Amino acid sequence: MKILYIICSSALFVGADVRAEAVIADVFARQATSLNGKWNYIVDPYDTGYFDYRRKPFDEDGKVTGGYALDRQARNKGDLIEYNFNTSPTLNVPGDWNSQSDKLFYYEGSVWYRRKFDAPKSAPEHRQFIYFGAANYEADVYLNGKKLGQHIGGFTPFAYEITKLAKDKGNSLVLRVNNNRHADAVPTVNTDWWNYGGITRDVLLVETPASFIANFRARLKPGTSNIIEATVQLDGANRGQAVKIDFPSLNLAAETASDQDGIARFELSRPGLALWSPENPALNEVVISSGDDSLKDRVGFRSVATSGQDILLNGKKVFLRGICIHEEVATEGRRAWSETDARMLLSQAKELGCNFVRLAHYPHNEHMARVADEMGILCWEEIPVYWTIQWTNPVTLANAKKQLSDLIGRDQNRASVIAWSVANETPVSEARTRFLKSLVDEARGLDGTRLVSAAMEVRSGTMENRPGTKPENHKVVDDPFGEFTDLCSFNQYIGWYDGLLEKIDQTTWSIKYKKPVFISEFGADAKQGMHADAQTRFSEEYQAELYRRTLPMLDQIPGFSGCTPWILFDFRSPRRVLPGIQDGWNIKGVIGHNGEKKRAFDVLKNFYATKAAAK
Ligand code: GCU
Repeated sequence: MKILYIICSSALFVGADVRAEAVIADVFARQATSLNGKWNYIVDPYDTGYFDYRRKPFDEDGKVTGGYALDRQARNKGDLIEYNFNTSPTLNVPGDWNSQSDKLFYYEGSVWYRRKFDAPKSAPEHRQFIYFGAANYEADVYLNGKKLGQHIGGFTPFAYEITKLAKDKGNSLVLRVNNNRHADAVPTVNTDWWNYGGITRDVLLVETPASFIANFRARLKPGTSNIIEATVQLDGANRGQAVKIDFPSLNLAAETASDQDGIARFELSRPGLALWSPENPALNEVVISSGDDSLKDRVGFRSVATSGQDILLNGKKVFLRGICIHEEVATEGRRAWSETDARMLLSQAKELGCNFVRLAHYPHNEHMARVADEMGILCWEEIPVYWTIQWTNPVTLANAKKQLSDLIGRDQNRASVIAWSVANETPVSEARTRFLKSLVDEARGLDGTRLVSAAMEVRSGTMENRPGTKPENHKVVDDPFGEFTDLCSFNQYIGWYDGLLEKIDQTTWSIKYKKPVFISEFGADAKQGMHADAQTRFSEEYQAELYRRTLPMLDQIPGFSGCTPWILFDFRSPRRVLPGIQDGWNIKGVIGHNGEKKRAFDVLKNFYATKAAAK
């Protein structure tokens, strides 16, 4: 009976979400209390903590009847409580658990976190929300023993309203975070990065007036260079509530009334508007106010488009001098999450001479795009539709769409973000292309002002007769998904996974699409400090020589508009186990996980300096 109960109740549990996630954007600009810091935790490999199996899991109003979510302690010597957060160890939040405890280094499973906090309101009519920057991969959230909801997706923000549940003092916030991989998940079970688990980004208690500004979007009106169009979404407002938008430094302001859906729309003309670009990352303060709420942010205005095989930024052709980045501080072997981490990563990209970064393979923390806005670095942001996703599973597609819409909703005001990527290296099939096409439609439906792309597949062979060329040396890019993307972007590893260095010099290309050609990955492993001749794999010389030969080869491709070599830093991966060389690290970084640059760094830097000078 017990076993049956466990199966039933866990199924019941998953379906027992008691509320939708709240939309509350720009949390760092709001009246918020950080809940970052030390949280007590319990490791729970058997998911024992879900409930007390001697009792039914929920009572009539969805209140959890047992388990760790109740955060109970024995009140007398007769009480039988077999857990106690108060005397359990702590983890730093934000932070992956893998890098904080040797026992959790490879751990995949559930960890229960608990944070006590007070939540006095500054006015009785105010509302309160709990906001999480991300938790990998599945998070069940409880407050004072009541389930708030479950978030799925390890790299996107989520929030719940707690106005009626929070107390002035002594609130108990409990999360079950589970990072098990699942075939039907996004990503699926197989990736080439570390499955860092935990509450990996900021946690905030946010207070708002009864009616507040839930989100807004401000951008250059497509087809113009001096008209700003803005949309403001209110929550809890009466129809016709006044909304004001103000750009103080532009001497530009307007006021209008919200409609029956709490939406206010603006169109403001500003002759001589300074457009945002890497050379001039002009950010404008925006102040939006409505009722008792006001929200400040900084927004840059720019346009991005393609014309034939050119990428145009503000109408001018741009070459994307990029690099791929994982969300990791390699020198500390942990997930990156803070503004400081973002500045460190993007400063290294800047030193390389980059005007562009590919934030692989999942949405990075919000600080990355905000710091890129300031530093004038263009960004490609991506959802983890990676390798062998379950293309025919509607739950998987809904998950991918939700992660994409969460990402776009969060970063739609970031001038630095010019491309949404919906996939990486996905095997060509009818079902896969259909799945990806629906993600392209979703992205374009939410935001028609940015490029949509993916890292597509390359094959060998001939698209037309090319006498004298060995088929294996002729690369063809005719992935059917290329019909739907704005860029013809693909990864290629000639000279590493595909032949030796001399193969690079023998390679010719046929590319089906007359679109900007963008190489989203190339590279080679190199152990930093390992020196040998250029024919010795894993030496810095081999990696540098691969860069030395690859860059001119790519430069010959008609429409070559940029690249993001793989990758800025070495990064952790359980797949990379060569003793004394990889030791659990993918070492394709141009910077080692010891923080030291490799010879390839300067090869790439010199190429980009030449490109920048040639503009
Ligand atoms: C693939 C993949 C990366 C991976 C890289 C590698 O292209 O996109 O995620 O790390 O190759 O093999 O190093």
